[in-house]
Amino acid sequence: MADRKATLNIEGMDPIELPVYQGTVGPDCVDVSSLAGKGVFTLDEGFASTASCRSEITYIDGGKGVLLHRGYPIDQLANNADYLEVCYLLLNGELPNAEQKAEFDSIVTNHTMVNESVASFYNGFRYDAHPMSMLCAVVGALSSFYHDSLDISDPEHRRVTTMRLISKMPTMAAMAYKHSIGQPALYPRNDLDYASNFLYMMFGTPCEDYEVNPVLARAMDKIFILHADHEQNASTSTVRLAGSTGANPFACIAAGIAALWGPSHGGANEAVVKMLGEIGSEDKVDEAVKRAKDKDDPFRLMGFGHRVYKNFDPRAKVMKEACDEVLAELGIDDPHLKIAKRLEQIALEDDYFVEKKLYPNVDFYSGIILRAIGIPLNMFTVIFALGRTSGWLAHWNEMIEGNSRIGRPRQLYLGSDLREYKKR
Ligand code: CMC
Repeated sequence: MADRKATLNIEGMDPIELPVYQGTVGPDCVDVSSLAGKGVFTLDEGFASTASCRSEITYIDGGKGVLLHRGYPIDQLANNADYLEVCYLLLNGELPNAEQKAEFDSIVTNHTMVNESVASFYNGFRYDAHPMSMLCAVVGALSSFYHDSLDISDPEHRRVTTMRLISKMPTMAAMAYKHSIGQPALYPRNDLDYASNFLYMMFGTPCEDYEVNPVLARAMDKIFILHADHEQNASTSTVRLAGSTGANPFACIAAGIAALWGPSHGGANEAVVKMLGEIGSEDKVDEAVKRAKDKDDPFRLMGFGHRVYKNFDPRAKVMKEACDEVLAELGIDDPHLKIAKRLEQIALEDDYFVEKKLYPNVDFYSGIILRAIGIPLNMFTVIFALGRTSGWLAHWNEMIEGNSRIGRPRQLYLGSDLREYKKR
């Protein structure tokens, strides 16, 4: 039901009444879907002003720097819950009670192994293949195991698919890393929690015992939580769009992984650390800021700015605290952190960044923690993908449940008008 109405006046046409909806919180939304029948479209390149769906999962107030999952603030979740609890919340709408949590954890723990033939996929990749390319391909290839017998209209089939992906993602991510360094992949360990098991599969070897540091496991878990969902970002929208065609969900998640990979999205965490390395020392920070402001220079400060946040990214605040904790635990004095802090200080005071409301985003500090944990640079975006899998699946489920129409944007056509074919 529309709360109010808007009237669109276009020269030469009768006024068009459009319903205006109000969300639980946040801005009003003008429903323009009836325009197509009247021969008019809206143009919104980059979807800056367009809601692509109705959703009950995540809310962001970019002006105030607020991020809520099912109503719960991200800092409360990151500081009190574990990642699987957040997965349950995103997927089911409520936090689990103790019994539900134990059952959810047990299902995940008991489905972490991948089919043995998946291991042979990795052998087909060159030793220097980027782990994101391997993850994207292997997750997509899971559709070959689960396709003909999979009925996505059946909630139970969707639940099983969801649990399979959340369970197997750490295994597939760690296998990509092990392949890239020429070590044998380790089987998952069911006595470990989600984050500890991932660290074990990353850093353990069959030759000796590997003790997971609980501080690092907790930091890893926090990183997964901070990446779990972020409403209709590029990769989630990709998963929804691919899913709206009824495509195999493993292929849809692979599409999300592909969209995430770019440096404007999930690839920014890798780009931040590369940038800090290139800046090299605190005294070169001013020069970097100057370059970032130069319109003729394509250089941007990676880890700064966000389409939605015009205030501090609330995930960056938690990430910064976690970063300090990890560095203190490990006794690491990372020169990158000094450069990052100086960069942050200058950018927060500089007119260019203040006017354009460019604040540090989640990726600004995540790279420094990941480096401290020992995660190699090319695995950073893989970790983002691992955490975001729960969000992608929550949105995919919501979309299928809501019987969404196929996603099919229109265009403002600026090409040639009709013309006769003539050989040239
Ligand atoms: N450094 C310097 N200038 C910037 C930056 C930056 N990092 N980000 C935006 N600007 C400027 C930009 O040049 C433009 O200036 P003008 O209005 O004079 O043309 C203005 O700010 C608006 O930028 P935009 O590119 O139109 O904004 P957008 O909403 O399309 O892009 C963004 C958002 C995140 C892609 C962009 O801020 C960016 O490229 N940031 C660096 C990459 C990054 O950190 N990405 C991670 C995003 S958070 C993780 C995630 O959710 O994936």
